[in-house]
Amino acid sequence: MTLHFLGKTLKNPLVLASGVLGNNKQILERVHENGCGLVTMKSIGPAPRDGHKNPTVIDLGCGMINAVGLPTPGYAHMEEEWQALETRTFPLNASIYGGSVAEYQTVAKFVAAKHPDFIEINISCPNSEQHGMIFGVSEQSAFDVVSAVKQVIGDIPLIAKLTPQAPDIAKIAKACEAAGSDAICAINTAGPGMVIDIESKMPILAFKKGGLSGPMIRPIAVRCVYDIFQAVSIPIIGLGGVTTGKDAVEMIMAGAHLVGIGSGVRYRGIEIFKKVNQELNAWLCAHDTTLEQIRGAAHGRDAVKNKGQAQ
Ligand SMILES: Cc1cc2nc3c(=O)[nH]c(=O)nc-3n(C[C@H](O)[C@H](O)[C@H](O)COP(=O)(O)O)c2cc1C
Repeated sequence: MTLHFLGKTLKNPLVLASGVLGNNKQILERVHENGCGLVTMKSIGPAPRDGHKNPTVIDLGCGMINAVGLPTPGYAHMEEEWQALETRTFPLNASIYGGSVAEYQTVAKFVAAKHPDFIEINISCPNSEQHGMIFGVSEQSAFDVVSAVKQVIGDIPLIAKLTPQAPDIAKIAKACEAAGSDAICAINTAGPGMVIDIESKMPILAFKKGGLSGPMIRPIAVRCVYDIFQAVSIPIIGLGGVTTGKDAVEMIMAGAHLVGIGSGVRYRGIEIFKKVNQELNAWLCAHDTTLEQIRGAAHGRDAVKNKGQAQ
């Protein structure tokens, strides 16, 4: 089921979400071989960072809670990974973050020189310039980061990854589009949430609070994609809680162009991509329809016709 996305050809609409499988070329290659159309790297930051203490990830059955804390070797300390990735045979989406607009720009410029197919900016991390706010919750700061990064990455398409913590995610998406973002990825983890061990009476995560992912956040992700689809004309990567082909169908009906999978890898292994593709194709076949015909279907036929989405 090949398709075009921002000028690149992908073998199918499934995307590995950032952060769940790291940045090792062999692992990313295996994900692609196992049916993933576009592979996203773990977010790369401006300086070496250990992340939070263990425990950092807990499986709650209905999904996961994590406070990994964006561990990164820092963009300048990944020469081995970059060298290995030079000879890759799969489409690569490089995810980056920073603590200020200038840091985003520095990391983006460096990463762009490594020629990934796309650059995704994770604007869900604390913004030191605005005293701990998150870039992705303010239209102005989202606009500032996107325009700054856009200036330094040449013709590499930019994807802005948004947080459901924004009071109105559609407005943030619109600001990113106005600043030159080529696509939107939604959503990052929801929350924050907390789980307490009732025997020790203490929060289980060392960082106490964490982001929620997996099946329990799917309705939030679907609502965010639905709202964003109504607000922008750039394509959307719908992400959050997808573990089956039917989940992917729902995300596409909300308006997603591509569908991301993160926590699902934990539940169904990396074969999840092959399985979801098969389930998605089987559903389309059984309903005698295509991806294009169902995209945005939840908005009604006229709404989709009037959009003329860019690809
Ligand atoms: C353990 C873990 C680490 C993550 N690390 C990152 C990251 O480095 N950058 C990022 O943009 N998102 C990160 N995410 C968020 C995922 O990419 C995704 O947006 C979120 O988990 C929702 O999708 P899912 O329900 O399919 O997991 C992480 C999620 C998890 C569970």
